[in-house]
Amino acid sequence: MNIVIIGTQWGDEGKGKIVDILSQKVDYIVRYQGGNNAGHTVVVGDKEYIFHLMPSGILHKHKVCCIGNGVVIDPLVLQNEIEGLKRAGINISGRFKISSLAHVIMPYHRILDQLREAKREHKIGTTGRGIGPCYADKINRCGIRMADLLNPKVFAEKLKDNLKEKNEIFKKVYRHPGFDFKAIYREYINYGNLFASYISNTMLLLNEAACDKKDILFEGAQGTFLDIDFGTYPFVTSSSTTSGGACIGSGVSPVKIDKVIGVAKAYTTRVGEGPFPTEFSLEFGKFMRKKGNEFGSTTGRPRRCGWFDALMVREAVMINGISELVIMKMDVLNGLRKIKICTAYRYKGKLLHEFPQDFEALSKVKPVYEEAPGWPETSNKPRCYKELHPNARVYLNRLREMLKVKVNMVSVGSSREDTIFLDC
Ligand code: GDP
Ligand code: IMO
Ligand code: MG
Repeated sequence: MNIVIIGTQWGDEGKGKIVDILSQKVDYIVRYQGGNNAGHTVVVGDKEYIFHLMPSGILHKHKVCCIGNGVVIDPLVLQNEIEGLKRAGINISGRFKISSLAHVIMPYHRILDQLREAKREHKIGTTGRGIGPCYADKINRCGIRMADLLNPKVFAEKLKDNLKEKNEIFKKVYRHPGFDFKAIYREYINYGNLFASYISNTMLLLNEAACDKKDILFEGAQGTFLDIDFGTYPFVTSSSTTSGGACIGSGVSPVKIDKVIGVAKAYTTRVGEGPFPTEFSLEFGKFMRKKGNEFGSTTGRPRRCGWFDALMVREAVMINGISELVIMKMDVLNGLRKIKICTAYRYKGKLLHEFPQDFEALSKVKPVYEEAPGWPETSNKPRCYKELHPNARVYLNRLREMLKVKVNMVSVGSSREDTIFLDC
């Protein structure tokens, strides 16, 4: 079974935890888009791992983990992650692969990301990791790929071409001194040497695996509403975070995908700028941020928090072809008297039942809520559906009805054990 895991909101839904759990049942795990703007948390016992590039299935011995062609790679971040795993005693040799077609984040991408953001009147709130500029170079056909780091002649030519144009822009537009060829060349050729044993044709590897009836898990990063097309543009990331991205970013055909599983928080969060119709008031937002420990896994920034938005998640179910949903962080709602679910928006006196595509409308809509009764804090974690408080079950049923999709897992804590499987 080949399964795609997708975030249904604005990222940080808990994809890392779900990928880790489902990795037990598959042979291959592949990250297919985004870069180290992602932060995927996996908690095992008293250890917490935050993966930015490495697939979240890497903790499972013998599973093959790939970084697909659709990912943009900051080699220093990857090197640190590999070293961190080695220090933790996790052996990745022979089972970790990097696509030779994946694009490389260069120092000028990182700096440009930060300089452009500083100049912008309406800031996006990017992670400043160079993601957007790296994808822009890919589309502009001047990007540098992992394979280039293994070929000094090609790399030198491409880097020279890039610096010729970019240094002029840096100096004239941004009053930045620009970049030195030799320093970057040396640093990046060194990365090529370091990663040589991992760089390979992952497209071929994954297709052969699919032919051999091996199971592949496709690990999405970010979330549906950060998608470059379907997200809250321009407050989005620069890749296709929706399920179609899994095929483009791995080289595996859509006909080989069996199922798409959506991951949603029991409420909503967002890091960075942009419209957020169900955002909590300041005080309640602070309270919930603390309760849910809502601080970015990559930048540490406080996440904005709000009620569950059924319009958004319903649209995510449609765009991605989600047939099963996982509801995360149900425990964070414990102890609330009432819980709201956004069922529609009101705009210029009209009720909207679809997520508006006009930016002004989205920025000004007022959410229409349905209220559900809350449930008390519990001293014991529920371990099965029946142990969930009856009102928590009412809430889940209501989500299921509104979204017209099966809820097959509920998460009530960050560790593996805090997961309730509904169909067993
Ligand atoms: P991802 O980017 O989608 O992988 O999500 P992140 O790792 O950025 O953020 C999810 C956070 O919630 C992490 O700190 C997880 O350890 C934590 N988490 C995951 N599931 C649960 C849950 O059910 N309850 C609680 N309280 N925390 C959870
Ligand atoms: P995971 O995979 C939450 C947000 C940034 C910013 C916007 C653009 O952990 O869910 P970028 O640096 O990508 O150009 O920033 O996207 N963003 C995320 N928000 N989770 C993420 O990843 C994110 N990756 C990017 O905060 O608003
Ligand atoms: Mg995250």
